[in-house]
Amino acid sequence: MDNLLNQIAGYKNEISAFTAADEKQVEEFRIKWLGTKGIVKATMGEMKNVAPEQKKEAGQILNEFKQFAEARYEELKASATGAVQTGFSIDISLPGDTMPLGSRHPVTLMRNRIVSIFQRLGFAVAEGPEIEDDWHNFGALNLPAHHPARDMQDTFYIQQNPDWVLRTHTSSVQIREMEKGKLPIRMLMPGRVYRNETVSARSHCFFHQVEGLYIDENVSFADLKQTLYFFVKEMYGKDVKVRFRPSYFPFTEPSAEMDVTCFICGGSGCNICKKTGWVEILGCGMVHPNVLSNCGIDPNKYTGFAFGMGIERPAMLKYGVNDLRLFSENDVRFLKQFTSAI
Ligand code: PHE
Repeated sequence: MDNLLNQIAGYKNEISAFTAADEKQVEEFRIKWLGTKGIVKATMGEMKNVAPEQKKEAGQILNEFKQFAEARYEELKASATGAVQTGFSIDISLPGDTMPLGSRHPVTLMRNRIVSIFQRLGFAVAEGPEIEDDWHNFGALNLPAHHPARDMQDTFYIQQNPDWVLRTHTSSVQIREMEKGKLPIRMLMPGRVYRNETVSARSHCFFHQVEGLYIDENVSFADLKQTLYFFVKEMYGKDVKVRFRPSYFPFTEPSAEMDVTCFICGGSGCNICKKTGWVEILGCGMVHPNVLSNCGIDPNKYTGFAFGMGIERPAMLKYGVNDLRLFSENDVRFLKQFTSAI
């Protein structure tokens, strides 16, 4: 009986220590221990050698041993099948899922195009906050409180602090650059701006602008015109004609709006240009002396020009997009149609 107990303890250790790498080894385990010629059966056969008064106890021990071997077999079986399944999910020979290739947003493409043209003239890029204080968005730009021209731009005010607005133009970044006091300045200010307008196919409560600023000694209106001529030729082609119309902005004097011959109909008149043959593309002018002094720049020594244009409209015309809202809906079917290196 003691012999038998020792033997069973040894078997149990062996069974516990056994591991199977695959189903084949599990099957080998079954044959060795639980098969018709297996060790468990053979050990059960030892019953006949046990003294009659110990048979009851021996029976229990042998049964328990059998259950032990069977339980281990189930365990090995479960983990071996699991292992095979895990093997499947990391099968490195399977072809991978292709990653969808993104594309740049059409507004970004147009922004980059505009920026790269001016960069060739030595303009650097400056950015600033979209939540602005009243001073940078209005005050410093010669738009004191209650100035009627504030109504030109329907403004979103921040409820908690009416001194803060969502910037209505990136001219606020021009102020921030001028305040730094490093002259000359030749900078572009691209960015998102906000105006409280009803969302429709033709207008939105936010859109994007590129503004530009050049300040140095002896900067003249002729410099402004030459810079913008260069831009138009690069952007819309050599044959496009340009005209300046006198206009009004509180922060520039004199001010102008610039039109180009309609790049859809070539000037003969179509729906895009409302049959006029001209499309307005930007506002510009010589920086108002008050704006320079507001930023600590001596207007007797320095002059400068500024201009500002929207990005969405040229993007709509270039890509034939007829609804402004498409730019902000993040519909992949729309966005994936735009591919470009820049
Ligand atoms: N800030 C003007 C706008 O938002 C554009 C502009 C910039 C006009 C610079 C003149 C000079 O519409």
